[in-house]
Amino acid sequence: MAKTDPAHTNSLAAYWMPFTANRAFKARPRMFVGAQGMHYLTADNRHVIDATSGLYCVNAGHAHPKIVSAIQDAAGRLDYAPAFQFGHPEAFELSNRLALMAPGDLDNVFYASSGSEAIDTALKIALSYHRRRGEGHRTRFIGRERGYHGVGFGGISVGGMSANRKVYGAMLSGVDHLPTTYDRAHQAFSTAEPGWGGHLADELERILALHDPSNIAAVIVEPVAGSTGCLPPPKGYLERLRAITDKHGILLILDEVITAFGRLGHVFAAERYGIVPDMVAFAKGLTNGAVPMSGVLVRGGIYAAHMDGAEHLPELYHGYTYSAHPLATAAALAALDVYVGEGLIERAATLEPRFAEIMLSLRGAPGVLDIRPIGLMCGIDLAPSQGGVGVRGFAIMERAFHEEDLYIRVGADTLIVAPPLIATEDDIASIRDRLARLIVATA
Ligand SMILES: Cc1ncc(COP(=O)(O)O)c(C=O)c1O
Repeated sequence: MAKTDPAHTNSLAAYWMPFTANRAFKARPRMFVGAQGMHYLTADNRHVIDATSGLYCVNAGHAHPKIVSAIQDAAGRLDYAPAFQFGHPEAFELSNRLALMAPGDLDNVFYASSGSEAIDTALKIALSYHRRRGEGHRTRFIGRERGYHGVGFGGISVGGMSANRKVYGAMLSGVDHLPTTYDRAHQAFSTAEPGWGGHLADELERILALHDPSNIAAVIVEPVAGSTGCLPPPKGYLERLRAITDKHGILLILDEVITAFGRLGHVFAAERYGIVPDMVAFAKGLTNGAVPMSGVLVRGGIYAAHMDGAEHLPELYHGYTYSAHPLATAAALAALDVYVGEGLIERAATLEPRFAEIMLSLRGAPGVLDIRPIGLMCGIDLAPSQGGVGVRGFAIMERAFHEEDLYIRVGADTLIVAPPLIATEDDIASIRDRLARLIVATA
């Protein structure tokens, strides 16, 4: 087809979709043309309930009027301001607000646009920090099996999802991985933090002994591993990681790209576990998903360690054209107003027990191997169908959209429920009932 052919603009051919089975999608598309509150709208006027807050980002529900008007206003007022050597007031206002909301001395903020960029940023700040302090030998990173830290070379290196790594060569060198904290035999059908597995944090000491702790820059983990199926941390695990990293002068980076801004009933998951990490990467919920924005909160000492040298030079040779973009800062400020003003974070905490109960009521449905609710997120593992791993999960995702007016994120044969924090008990029960029918239909 000629590229000038007007029909070409309606063709699905050109768009190479991310993390998508392109051929299956293009054979049977799943399109959204609008969204409001808990629902997406399709071109044939169906209201599709959003069971996973988009990709865990639309915490306040879709098209919140305060966020929409803040973005519209910003676009007409200051469409762009150069991120390097210049600033705009809302970037500073947002940073101050985030620092106030963050635990401990997480006092300074560096911005990027995606979670992946936030992770690269955090890893680079770790290296820079140690070098500034004369400990440039601290170059190694420790991630975790079944971790997901986005798709940059840094993120896939510290991440632990083999499919995301296997064709990308050597990646970042000098990376080790803690074992996953998930063990179905000990943890199946736990509510929130499982009682078994806190001791797995001690595996860190084993890795440190191999390399000598003085060579380790940072440990990076998600508080709850999200993309590999919602794996809550065992009781005491994160606290132990904090104690061990503290003991050896190693930075602890929490990847809160999913968990920040209410998903676990706190602004930051770090508060739930009573720890102060050295850095927190965040994204997604910050702007309610409405404008891409991410960032890294760092402890004051990390920022301070950079504030020397010639005053006309940048202290960190790192940044993005869109760091603290004015549309993004406007969306973020409005989203924070909504989270606080409408009590959405407390709401998530209040709903947590009922959410867990409703999700766990799927226990006993055909082929349900485990259900892991925590905060307002939950992984549901299903036995694969005879077609092989992932066939059943894919079928549920497709049929959910076409037959049940349900959007749900699926990884292999694991369903991930993480509704907007505005969800009512009825919404959650309705998601559960639709899933129950799909689980039976695909058994
Ligand atoms: C924990 C975590 N880190 C990083 C990322 C990457 O974010 P992005 O897709 O915005 O690059 C994600 C995305 O889902 C995530 O869940």
